[in-house]
Amino acid sequence: MRAAMAAPLACALPAWARAATPPADDESMARFIAGLPKAEFHVHLEGTLEAEMKFALAQRNGLSLPYATVEEMKRSYIYHDLPSFLKIYYDGMQVLLTEQDFYDLAYGYLSKAASQNVLYAEMFFDPQEHLKRGVPIEAVIGGITRARADAAKTIGIESQLILCFMRDLSAESAMEALDAALPHKDKLIGVGLDSDEKDNPPEKFAEHFAKARAAGLHVTMHCDVNQENTLEHIRTALVDLQAERIDHGGNIVQSPELMALAKSKGIPFTVCPTFSGKVMEDGHPINALREMLDAGLKVSVNSDDPAYMGSEYITEVLVRAQKDSALTPAELVRIERHAFETAWIPEAQRDGYLAKLEAYAQDWGVTA
Ligand code: HPA
Ligand code: ZN
Repeated sequence: MRAAMAAPLACALPAWARAATPPADDESMARFIAGLPKAEFHVHLEGTLEAEMKFALAQRNGLSLPYATVEEMKRSYIYHDLPSFLKIYYDGMQVLLTEQDFYDLAYGYLSKAASQNVLYAEMFFDPQEHLKRGVPIEAVIGGITRARADAAKTIGIESQLILCFMRDLSAESAMEALDAALPHKDKLIGVGLDSDEKDNPPEKFAEHFAKARAAGLHVTMHCDVNQENTLEHIRTALVDLQAERIDHGGNIVQSPELMALAKSKGIPFTVCPTFSGKVMEDGHPINALREMLDAGLKVSVNSDDPAYMGSEYITEVLVRAQKDSALTPAELVRIERHAFETAWIPEAQRDGYLAKLEAYAQDWGVTA
């Protein structure tokens, strides 16, 4: 009875009596970003494997790790480019062996993301690395899928799964992983392409993308920053392979022609400011996120491999990006609008998320 009476009173507050002041200092900007309804599209589940969980899984699976403590392990996460990062990342995932391990990994990420107001996530995983170690695809996809269902039910975060081909392994290995996964295609939303780009152009996987598309899956691919032939790779992805998204892709700002093409096709870019590194031009760094936004490209901001990047999840990444790229509150809302528009979901679900985002912006007095 009391609750029933309280609700109309709260609703009766006139708009002028509610706080509708756009964030104007660091503290209110941080609160605004923390509460912002968010979506994430570029997060590698194996890249969310925190050192603490690595120790717990190693113990459960009777494995020993080459570090005595969590702190020592975290201190070893030093890399200077994509290959040196990938070595640490693939070494780290050796502790993932059972269905329960994949459940714990995915549930851990989804809980963290939900606590930061991520309403929806599409998450990458790297099956080839697990199949290589004799882990059945059923354990990998099964554990992640069970975690997705539980997280949706208990903490209200929706998610989907994208299988990545590891571009530095053979085309045959990627095809084996796709064939193993296709009987479970109802648990996947798309395929992607990750790992070391050097000498591994996207067309190496043309057949794989075609097969996945024929099976009803969406197609995205990494074009990491400052790679050899990066603009050619972006062009191949957009034109020849008809990628629906580009993951990273920051060097596109160096080609007005490719930017115009991506814009005309409405291609989303999943930018990860923590990892992508600065796009370099004539030895000088340029701010790709700022330039992509200013050019009118559809850009979302993402955390990539947070466990290896100072445990900075989406809120911390956005706080940093806001400062580095001088993002206005309206631009932050625009980024999340782009994010929800990027999602491979039914329109009614998208409309629900967008309504929450617009209501939040309005509550803060932020207009586009
Ligand atoms: N790029 C390429 N491969 C990866 C990445 C990335 O951002 N993260 C994990 N594997
Ligand atoms: Zn990535």
